[in-house]
Amino acid sequence: MSKPLYVLNGPNLNLLGTRNPEVYGTTTLADIEAMVRERAGACGLEVVFRQTNGEGTLVDWIQEARSEACGILLNAAAYTHTSVAIHDALEAAELPVAEVHLSNVHRRESFRHRSFVSPQADVVLAGAGAYGYVMAVDWFAQHLDR
Ligand code: DQA
Repeated sequence: MSKPLYVLNGPNLNLLGTRNPEVYGTTTLADIEAMVRERAGACGLEVVFRQTNGEGTLVDWIQEARSEACGILLNAAAYTHTSVAIHDALEAAELPVAEVHLSNVHRRESFRHRSFVSPQADVVLAGAGAYGYVMAVDWFAQHLDR
């Protein structure tokens, strides 16, 4: 049986819908999960969808993905800009990785311009809102060796 796509979400993304709607819109994480599941289902992909506020938990999940997943769609949120541990976990995972951000991080504060995820990512999507997750699912559907 083929392995699922891990869709991992980092800190504060549980607050989507009410958090800075002028930046992140009003779509909730549950809405995003529904969009991801719908597109993945249409592409014949299974999904494990999770959110955590903990850096170590993200590292644990990336390590788990190493043996349990076909790929990782990651919005590491603020840890994108700080976490060498997430960089190293992705490097060790040796899986296809899509980095997704709802907002265009390059049009925001300069501390968001640096990503520790991008060097390990095959695809980087920023600024498309929730649709970025759907595009990333499409990319996995096209590129996974199934
Ligand atoms: C984010 C962008 C990050 O800079 C920020 O810390 C987030 C969300 C995004 O999806 O646009 O929490 O990853």
